[in-house]
Amino acid sequence: MTDKVSIESLLKKKSDRIPITLLTAYDYPMGSILDSCDIDIILVGDSVANVVLGLESTTSIGMYEMLHHAKAVRRAVKRALLVGDMPYESYQLDQKDSVKNARRFMDEAGCEAVKLEWFDSCCQTTADIINAGIPVMGHIGLTPQTADKLGGFKVQGKDAQAARKLIDEALLLEKTGIFAIVLECIPDALAGIITEKLKIPTIGIGAGPRCDGQALVTHDLLGLFEKHRPKFVKEYVNLSEEMRKAISAYRSEVEERIFPSKEHSYTMKDSEVQKLKGAATQK
Ligand code: KIV
Repeated sequence: MTDKVSIESLLKKKSDRIPITLLTAYDYPMGSILDSCDIDIILVGDSVANVVLGLESTTSIGMYEMLHHAKAVRRAVKRALLVGDMPYESYQLDQKDSVKNARRFMDEAGCEAVKLEWFDSCCQTTADIINAGIPVMGHIGLTPQTADKLGGFKVQGKDAQAARKLIDEALLLEKTGIFAIVLECIPDALAGIITEKLKIPTIGIGAGPRCDGQALVTHDLLGLFEKHRPKFVKEYVNLSEEMRKAISAYRSEVEERIFPSKEHSYTMKDSEVQKLKGAATQK
């Protein structure tokens, strides 16, 4: 295992031009595997709503579910920076509640930072959370919690005016004190400009190769989520297919009495079996 990832080590990666990796985890086994592969940032993403809970929208889960998943991941992760994704309406409605909820990710789930999606007054909320001593990661471009307002799940910042607005958002958030920013589903040229303008690392998901780091939803890269596959996803393996093969093999072996064999069974001395049978016939 290489050194524990910190906000400072991520900044150093940006200045040394070493790409940063971010993946999502929602439970202990996935957190453990990602950490053993030296992934830099593990995000307990609200994408758990889609890829694990089968919900249509990330707006359908709240603090209870997010903390439950974050605690499980925390038990596994030793090296990566663990970031909790603040769910819909946990930070948009009331400033005091936003800080309280961000603190719950740190105190109850052991996260080391939280992530907030852009919304109209997010700079004030971000500043309040940072002033409370909690590191914040920003998220602009296609922000799934408010996708309805953005015209759905579409590439953002495609014309110069929309692109300029995203540059301004990134600069404002950097000024507020965030330590990194997710750029989701924006043109690669725009992501390149934002990456050059910011001192903090940019982490792209569907934002091309010019970002300081890359993110994917782990279930997408493993082929574990079959409902949608955005263009920006690279499926490195199709685990759904592998799982179907294994589960079908199990079913056939049980039906054909191949499993369990001796190898997977416990034995008892013959003499004890005989005693047991004798005792049974005496009754
Ligand atoms: O919830 C999530 O998985 C995310 C990533 C898309 C960055 O926010």
